[in-house]
Amino acid sequence: MPGTCVIGLQWGDEAKGKIVDLLTEQHDVVVRYAGGANAGHTVVTGGQTYKLSLIPSGILNAGVKSVITGGVVLNPPSILGEIDGLVQRGVQVSDNLMISDRAHVIFPWHLEEDRLNEARTSKNGEAIGTTQRGIGPCYRDKVGRTNAIRLGDLYRANFAEKVKSVAADKNSLFPLLAAGTPFTPLDADQIIADYRGYAARLKPYVADTTAYLLDALENDQRLLFEGAQGALLDVDHGTFPYVTSSNSSGVGISSGSGVPGKYLNRVIGIVKAYGTRVGGGPFPTEQANDIGQHLRDRGNEYGTVTRRPRRCGWFDAVAARYTARLSGVDVLSVMLLDVLSELPEIQICTAYEINGKRVEQFPSHVDDLREAKPIYETVPGWQTDITGMRRWEELPKNALAYLRRLSEVVGRPVQIASVGPDRAQTIFHPECEFAPPAARTPVLAPSN
Ligand code: IMP
Repeated sequence: MPGTCVIGLQWGDEAKGKIVDLLTEQHDVVVRYAGGANAGHTVVTGGQTYKLSLIPSGILNAGVKSVITGGVVLNPPSILGEIDGLVQRGVQVSDNLMISDRAHVIFPWHLEEDRLNEARTSKNGEAIGTTQRGIGPCYRDKVGRTNAIRLGDLYRANFAEKVKSVAADKNSLFPLLAAGTPFTPLDADQIIADYRGYAARLKPYVADTTAYLLDALENDQRLLFEGAQGALLDVDHGTFPYVTSSNSSGVGISSGSGVPGKYLNRVIGIVKAYGTRVGGGPFPTEQANDIGQHLRDRGNEYGTVTRRPRRCGWFDAVAARYTARLSGVDVLSVMLLDVLSELPEIQICTAYEINGKRVEQFPSHVDDLREAKPIYETVPGWQTDITGMRRWEELPKNALAYLRRLSEVVGRPVQIASVGPDRAQTIFHPECEFAPPAARTPVLAPSN
């Protein structure tokens, strides 16, 4: 049985949630396998907007199971807040949600470490610009092991003892990390009481998700893997150190979920029709000018989680070609195409110039990326409102030419185009196997 994967190919915020939501009805299980409450997914359906962070977008379809695996770092109050918000709006959250007992838990010390670390490094201009959700510190403790606490540990007899020991360690670390920034020492007893409360409320959802997914595969269930962030933020393969702390490209699916790679056989790469980035780090095609502001305004480019304005720029095909190969992408879905509709001309970066040389391969070192000057190709815009269009052949000639050119320069076919936030504003290429049955249109015979 196939496992379908939806992976962002840029620096996150590619609108993956919308595609996951659309594909959900063709699957039995939707799996979130990495990251934490740093991610934000917006799904618009039936005129309602849902903002999700830890819970897979599949939750909006009661018929599927939504699974959060051990690769995710879990902030209990965040997920409980999300569950409450969904339930208040009438969304079913019961045995259709499962959370791994292997997931590492974010504690107040992780949030404090993230904050103090960012405050200290921003003094010398080296801050990563994290979402301050404790993601990096929690993954650091996971790899370090000694101070790590997993969800399953919350139900064990030595939980309180463990929290006291970690809190003591962290309280001695904070003054060094803070370097003058004020902080509040941890109150271990309060944390124990709070987390016991969270643990009790989360209990019905906690399970061994690895075993569940392996069983599901043996029972021919169809799995949909929902990426968080984008491949350029991958801790091993992204623009290190300006990355998140998990494998956010396609390579992270197996380690994060426990599902062997041989089942991950259909990969959709999600890109915006332009580029955005939140936080620090080089962004060669950034337009810190009127064009960037136009993209930000039209695309509502403000972080779902932090509301920070996103940096905006042209489509970077050097980066997307790299991440499409890295994530084993089969087809591309181009999101927010309508945001470009008013522009008379559009630029695509097809190569870089680094130290006087033309380079087509994405640099492995951030210093080289910092030096990269984009080499652009200019294509005409379409200057037509496309938000009401629903069929591939309805799109203006120049919009189709833009999509065709993106296919060529990235090296993967564009088969889905999004022209607005609503589910209905999604156009499938006639040959796209992912099209929901209602959206399938016959392949047109070539006209001659
Ligand atoms: P962290 O994941 O909070 O540690 O942040 C590390 C970097 O990843 C920062 O540049 C963040 O802005 C970026 N980042 C983390 N999550 C997202 C996301 O969901 N969308 C876009 N950028 C993200």
